[in-house]
Amino acid sequence: MSLCVAIDGPAASGKGTISRALAARYGFAHLDTGLLYRAVGALAADGTDPIDAARALRPEDLDRGDLRTAAAGQAASKVAAIPDVREALVDFQRAFARRAGGAVLDGRDIGTVICPEAEVKLFVTATDEVRARRRFEELVAGGADTDFDKVLADLRARDQRDADRATAPMTIAPDAIELDTSTLSIAQAVEKAAALIDAAIKDADNNGSTV
Ligand code: C5P
Repeated sequence: MSLCVAIDGPAASGKGTISRALAARYGFAHLDTGLLYRAVGALAADGTDPIDAARALRPEDLDRGDLRTAAAGQAASKVAAIPDVREALVDFQRAFARRAGGAVLDGRDIGTVICPEAEVKLFVTATDEVRARRRFEELVAGGADTDFDKVLADLRARDQRDADRATAPMTIAPDAIELDTSTLSIAQAVEKAAALIDAAIKDADNNGSTV
Protein backbone atom coordinates (compact mmCIF):
# COMPACT_ATOMS: atom_id res chain seq x y z
CA MET A 1 0.00 0.00 0.00
CA SER A 2 1.32 3.48 -0.79
CA LEU A 3 -1.29 5.73 0.78
CA CYS A 4 -0.32 9.41 0.86
CA VAL A 5 -1.56 11.70 3.61
CA ALA A 6 -1.01 15.40 2.81
CA ILE A 7 -1.18 17.77 5.76
CA ASP A 8 -0.82 21.49 5.12
CA GLY A 9 -1.37 24.55 7.25
CA PRO A 10 0.22 27.64 8.73
CA ALA A 11 2.95 27.77 11.38
CA ALA A 12 2.12 26.22 14.77
CA SER A 13 -1.31 25.02 13.62
CA GLY A 14 -0.57 21.57 15.05
CA LYS A 15 0.11 19.89 11.72
CA GLY A 16 3.51 18.53 12.77
CA THR A 17 2.18 16.98 15.98
CA ILE A 18 -0.80 15.46 14.17
CA SER A 19 1.43 14.15 11.36
CA ARG A 20 3.82 12.44 13.75
CA ALA A 21 0.96 10.84 15.68
CA LEU A 22 -0.69 9.57 12.50
CA ALA A 23 2.57 8.19 11.12
CA ALA A 24 3.19 6.30 14.37
CA ARG A 25 -0.37 4.97 14.48
CA TYR A 26 -0.47 3.64 10.92
CA GLY A 27 3.20 2.76 10.55
CA PHE A 28 3.63 5.34 7.78
CA ALA A 29 6.85 7.22 7.12
CA HIS A 30 6.74 10.92 8.00
CA LEU A 31 8.41 13.86 6.27
CA ASP A 32 8.39 17.30 7.86
CA THR A 33 8.95 19.24 4.64
CA GLY A 34 9.41 22.51 6.54
CA LEU A 35 12.71 21.09 7.74
CA LEU A 36 14.00 21.03 4.14
CA TYR A 37 13.33 24.75 3.77
CA ARG A 38 14.71 25.47 7.24
CA ALA A 39 17.94 23.67 6.31
CA VAL A 40 18.24 25.62 3.05
CA GLY A 41 17.49 28.87 4.93
CA ALA A 42 20.19 28.09 7.50
CA LEU A 43 22.75 27.27 4.80
CA ALA A 44 21.85 30.51 3.02
CA ALA A 45 22.33 32.43 6.28
CA ASP A 46 25.81 30.84 6.45
CA GLY A 47 26.58 32.30 3.03
CA THR A 48 25.73 29.48 0.61
CA ASP A 49 23.66 30.40 -2.42
CA PRO A 50 20.14 29.11 -1.56
CA ILE A 51 19.58 27.45 -4.94
CA ASP A 52 22.95 25.63 -4.71
CA ALA A 53 22.10 24.67 -1.13
CA ALA A 54 18.73 23.20 -2.16
CA ARG A 55 20.26 21.28 -5.09
CA ALA A 56 23.00 19.80 -2.90
CA LEU A 57 20.98 19.27 0.30
CA ARG A 58 22.27 16.28 2.27
CA PRO A 59 20.50 14.26 5.01
CA GLU A 60 22.97 15.55 7.60
CA ASP A 61 21.95 19.14 6.79
CA LEU A 62 18.59 18.29 8.38
CA ASP A 63 20.29 17.34 11.66
CA ARG A 64 21.58 20.83 12.48
CA GLY A 65 20.64 21.90 15.99
CA ASP A 66 19.56 25.41 14.99
CA LEU A 67 16.71 24.61 12.59
CA ARG A 68 13.86 25.04 15.07
CA THR A 69 14.61 28.64 16.01
CA ALA A 70 12.39 31.58 15.06
CA ALA A 71 15.21 32.96 12.91
CA ALA A 72 15.43 29.68 10.98
CA GLY A 73 11.68 29.82 10.37
CA GLN A 74 11.92 33.31 8.89
CA ALA A 75 14.98 32.36 6.83
CA ALA A 76 13.09 29.29 5.57
CA SER A 77 10.11 31.30 4.40
CA LYS A 78 12.41 33.70 2.49
CA VAL A 79 14.22 30.96 0.55
CA ALA A 80 10.91 29.10 0.11
CA ALA A 81 9.70 31.94 -2.12
CA ILE A 82 12.50 31.24 -4.67
CA PRO A 83 11.04 29.05 -7.46
CA ASP A 84 14.36 27.25 -8.19
CA VAL A 85 14.73 26.34 -4.52
CA ARG A 86 11.27 24.75 -4.52
CA GLU A 87 11.93 23.00 -7.82
CA ALA A 88 15.13 21.44 -6.45
CA LEU A 89 13.19 19.87 -3.57
CA VAL A 90 10.20 18.51 -5.52
CA ASP A 91 11.51 15.11 -6.69
CA PHE A 92 12.65 14.05 -3.24
CA GLN A 93 9.28 14.95 -1.71
CA ARG A 94 7.28 13.24 -4.48
CA ALA A 95 9.30 10.04 -4.20
CA PHE A 96 8.79 10.10 -0.43
CA ALA A 97 5.03 10.59 -0.89
CA ARG A 98 4.77 7.47 -3.00
CA ARG A 99 6.99 5.16 -1.00
CA ALA A 100 5.62 1.72 -0.24
CA GLY A 101 4.04 1.42 3.18
CA GLY A 102 2.36 4.83 3.22
CA ALA A 103 3.59 8.32 3.95
CA VAL A 104 2.50 11.43 5.80
CA LEU A 105 3.98 14.72 4.56
CA ASP A 106 3.34 18.01 6.26
CA GLY A 107 4.03 21.45 4.86
CA ARG A 108 2.37 24.24 2.90
CA ASP A 109 1.96 22.85 -0.64
CA ILE A 110 1.67 19.10 -0.18
CA GLY A 111 -1.98 18.77 -1.19
CA THR A 112 -1.70 21.35 -3.97
CA VAL A 113 1.70 20.77 -5.61
CA ILE A 114 3.69 17.84 -4.19
CA CYS A 115 0.96 15.25 -3.92
CA PRO A 116 -2.27 16.62 -5.47
CA GLU A 117 -3.50 13.04 -5.85
CA ALA A 118 -3.11 12.30 -2.10
CA GLU A 119 -5.76 9.94 -0.77
CA VAL A 120 -6.18 12.08 2.36
CA LYS A 121 -5.77 15.87 2.43
CA LEU A 122 -6.00 17.99 5.52
CA PHE A 123 -5.54 21.73 6.02
CA VAL A 124 -4.87 22.31 9.70
CA THR A 125 -5.61 25.76 11.13
CA ALA A 126 -6.01 27.56 14.47
CA THR A 127 -6.49 31.22 15.33
CA ASP A 128 -3.41 33.45 15.20
CA GLU A 129 -3.47 33.92 18.98
CA VAL A 130 -3.68 30.20 19.73
CA ARG A 131 -0.86 29.44 17.32
CA ALA A 132 1.32 32.23 18.69
CA ARG A 133 0.67 31.02 22.25
CA ARG A 134 1.78 27.48 21.30
CA ARG A 135 4.90 28.73 19.55
CA PHE A 136 5.71 31.13 22.41
CA GLU A 137 5.49 28.32 24.98
CA GLU A 138 7.63 26.06 22.80
CA LEU A 139 10.31 28.76 22.41
CA VAL A 140 10.33 29.61 26.13
CA ALA A 141 10.54 25.90 27.04
CA GLY A 142 13.55 25.70 24.72
CA GLY A 143 15.24 28.52 26.65
CA ALA A 144 14.56 31.37 24.21
CA ASP A 145 14.16 34.90 25.55
CA THR A 146 11.17 36.32 23.67
CA ASP A 147 7.77 37.90 24.22
CA PHE A 148 4.32 36.95 23.04
CA ASP A 149 3.70 40.01 20.84
CA LYS A 150 6.93 39.44 18.97
CA VAL A 151 6.06 35.79 18.37
CA LEU A 152 2.59 36.78 17.12
CA ALA A 153 4.01 39.42 14.77
CA ASP A 154 6.67 37.00 13.43
CA LEU A 155 4.10 34.29 12.85
CA ARG A 156 1.78 36.65 10.96
CA ALA A 157 4.64 37.96 8.82
CA ARG A 158 5.68 34.41 7.94
CA ASP A 159 2.10 33.32 7.13
CA GLN A 160 1.66 36.32 4.89
CA ARG A 161 4.92 35.67 3.04
CA ASP A 162 3.93 32.00 2.60
CA ALA A 163 0.41 32.82 1.38
CA ASP A 164 1.42 35.69 -0.93
CA ARG A 165 4.34 34.13 -2.81
CA ALA A 166 3.84 33.46 -6.51
CA THR A 167 5.12 29.86 -6.56
CA ALA A 168 3.27 27.18 -4.58
CA PRO A 169 1.68 29.58 -2.08
CA MET A 170 0.17 28.22 1.10
CA THR A 171 -3.48 27.64 0.24
CA ILE A 172 -6.14 25.07 0.98
CA ALA A 173 -6.61 22.52 -1.83
CA PRO A 174 -10.21 22.45 -3.11
CA ASP A 175 -10.60 18.84 -1.95
CA ALA A 176 -8.87 19.21 1.43
CA ILE A 177 -10.73 18.94 4.72
CA GLU A 178 -10.10 21.87 7.05
CA LEU A 179 -9.35 20.96 10.66
CA ASP A 180 -9.44 23.88 13.12
CA THR A 181 -7.46 22.84 16.19
CA SER A 182 -8.04 26.08 18.19
CA THR A 183 -10.21 24.37 20.78
CA LEU A 184 -9.17 20.74 20.27
CA SER A 185 -6.77 18.69 22.35
CA ILE A 186 -4.02 16.89 20.45
CA ALA A 187 -5.86 13.60 20.99
CA GLN A 188 -9.12 15.01 19.58
CA ALA A 189 -7.38 16.45 16.52
CA VAL A 190 -5.58 13.17 15.86
CA GLU A 191 -8.85 11.20 16.15
CA LYS A 192 -10.53 13.44 13.58
CA ALA A 193 -7.63 13.04 11.17
CA ALA A 194 -7.46 9.28 11.78
CA ALA A 195 -11.15 8.93 10.89
CA LEU A 196 -10.32 10.31 7.43
CA ILE A 197 -7.47 7.85 6.97
CA ASP A 198 -9.67 4.95 8.10
CA ALA A 199 -12.26 6.00 5.50
CA ALA A 200 -9.60 6.20 2.77
CA ILE A 201 -8.28 2.74 3.65
CA LYS A 202 -11.82 1.33 3.59
CA ASP A 203 -12.45 2.99 0.25
CA ALA A 204 -9.31 1.44 -1.18
CA ASP A 205 -10.33 -1.99 0.15
CA ASN A 206 -13.83 -1.68 -1.32
CA ASN A 207 -12.45 -0.68 -4.70
CA GLY A 208 -10.07 -3.62 -4.63
CA SER A 209 -7.31 -1.11 -5.09
CA THR A 210 -3.89 -1.56 -3.57
CA VAL A 211 -3.63 2.24 -3.26
O1 C5P B 1 6.58 24.06 8.73
P1 C5P B 1 7.69 25.00 9.12
O2 C5P B 1 7.21 26.12 9.97
O3 C5P B 1 8.87 24.31 9.68
O4 C5P B 1 8.18 25.62 7.72
C1 C5P B 1 9.14 26.64 7.65
C2 C5P B 1 8.92 27.44 6.38
O5 C5P B 1 9.23 26.61 5.25
C3 C5P B 1 7.49 27.92 6.14
O6 C5P B 1 7.21 29.15 6.75
C4 C5P B 1 7.43 28.00 4.62
O7 C5P B 1 7.95 29.22 4.16
C5 C5P B 1 8.38 26.92 4.16
N1 C5P B 1 7.68 25.73 3.68
C6 C5P B 1 7.19 25.75 2.40
N2 C5P B 1 6.62 24.63 1.88
C7 C5P B 1 6.51 23.53 2.59
C8 C5P B 1 6.98 23.49 3.92
C9 C5P B 1 7.55 24.63 4.45
O8 C5P B 1 7.26 26.76 1.71
N3 C5P B 1 5.98 22.43 2.04
